[in-house]
Parts: sequence; C-alpha cells; structure tokens
Amino acid sequence: MKTLVILSSILGDRSHSKQLADHLIARVKEANPAAAVKVRDIGAQPIPYFDGNTAGALFTPADARSVDQQRIVELSDTLVAELMEADRIVFAVPVYNFNLPAQFKSYLDHLARAGVTFRYTPEGVPEGLVKGKQVFVLTARGGKAEGTPSDTMTPYLRQMLGFLGMNDVTFIAAEGMAMGEVAALEGVTLAKQRIDALVLESAQASLAA
Ligand SMILES: Cc1cc2nc3c(=O)[nH]c(=O)nc-3n(C[C@H](O)[C@H](O)[C@H](O)COP(=O)(O)O)c2cc1C
Repeated sequence: MKTLVILSSILGDRSHSKQLADHLIARVKEANPAAAVKVRDIGAQPIPYFDGNTAGALFTPADARSVDQQRIVELSDTLVAELMEADRIVFAVPVYNFNLPAQFKSYLDHLARAGVTFRYTPEGVPEGLVKGKQVFVLTARGGKAEGTPSDTMTPYLRQMLGFLGMNDVTFIAAEGMAMGEVAALEGVTLAKQRIDALVLESAQASLAA
C-alpha cells in the first residue's frame, strides 16, 4: 500500500498538523517497515497560485504550449500522478483564518482538472476520477470548533475531495493548540490516539482481505 502525505503548514517542524502526520507515518512503518511513503511539503515548497497563466497553460492543447506553459502543466501532471498512484492519502492541513491555508487551496486548484481528475457524464452529473483512496485529513487549530458552524474547513474539504472522487475520508483534528500547554497537549494526544486506532483498524482490514 502506497501512502502519499501532503504537509501544508507554514510552521515547519513546529507544526502540529505535521506532528500528527509524522505520528501516522511512524505507525504505518511500524505496521509494515517496507511501506512506501512519499511526503510533499507544500508549506516549505509552495505550489504557485492558480493564476491566468496556469489556466491558459492547462487549456492550451499540448502541441501548442510554450516552454513556460509546458512547465506549468508538468507540475499539475506530477501532482495528479502522485495522487493517482497512492492508495492512502494523508492531508495535513492547519486551520488558518477559519479555513485551509492558501497553499493547500492552490494545490487543490492544480488537481481539479476536467477529464483528468473529474468529468461530467452526458447527463451533466459530475463524476470524480480519483477513486479507491483511503484519505485522512489531519488538522490542527488554535481553538475548538469541530462540529460547529465555525468549522468551515471540514465541509469544504469533504465537498471538494468528494467532487474529485475521494469519498472515504476521515478527519482527525488536534484542537486547542492556542489554548495553553495543557489543552494543546491534550488535543494532540487525543488526535494521536485516534490515528493509532485507525492505523490498527486499517492494518487488520488489510490482513483480513
Ligand atoms: C495565520 C494564522 C491564522 C490562524 N487562524 C486560526 C483560526 O481561524 N482558527 C483557529 O482555531 N486557529 C487559527 N490559527 C491557529 C492555528 O490553527 C494553530 O496554530 C495550528 O496549530 C496550526 O496548524 P500547524 O501547527 O500545523 O501550522 C491560526 C494561525 C495562524 C498562523
């Protein structure tokens, strides 16, 4: 089983969502030391904003693209290919200003491509083409908002990932990161316990399959 991990915090090694992703990777490796895990850190190496040049490159036929346009499409192709190759996808996503970081939105903008990651049926119904993935979204936030209207990120991500075909999505949140040391430790500990349970469940399901 191949695991792709996308980190998106701007805080590098101080990131709580990265801490959760590192924990999940450690558990996956414990369960299977040979497990293939690929990590992309779009906080450290941001994906460019999806601007007019990006849209222009993607809408230009392959044989008519300039060198710059080819480079733009290559990045999108690479991001899509690594997503398609993965069986398990881990998105580590901090909450910034009630929603996901701009760099993660840019990443999603580069993934959403008609005819590649989604399409419309003749009846006009959208169909996601990123199918069969087990997805974990590991979030960290300063306050506590899970399950309340203030959590605008979870519904958006569920909608967007579902649109691309990713419907098996589990959200795990470390909450209270800015509410003092005790609350932060409790939030991270609870999230790690949920990760442990899910990795164990997943390993048992693979053994049983
Ligand atoms: C620019 C910025 C905006 C933030 N906005 C929110 C917010 O809207 N709600 C919240 O609960 N926490 C907010 N926080 C706190 C972060 O969610 C918290 O620091 C969390 O640990 C970030 O994840 P990370 O450690 O992986 O970067 C914000 C932090 C930053 C730096």
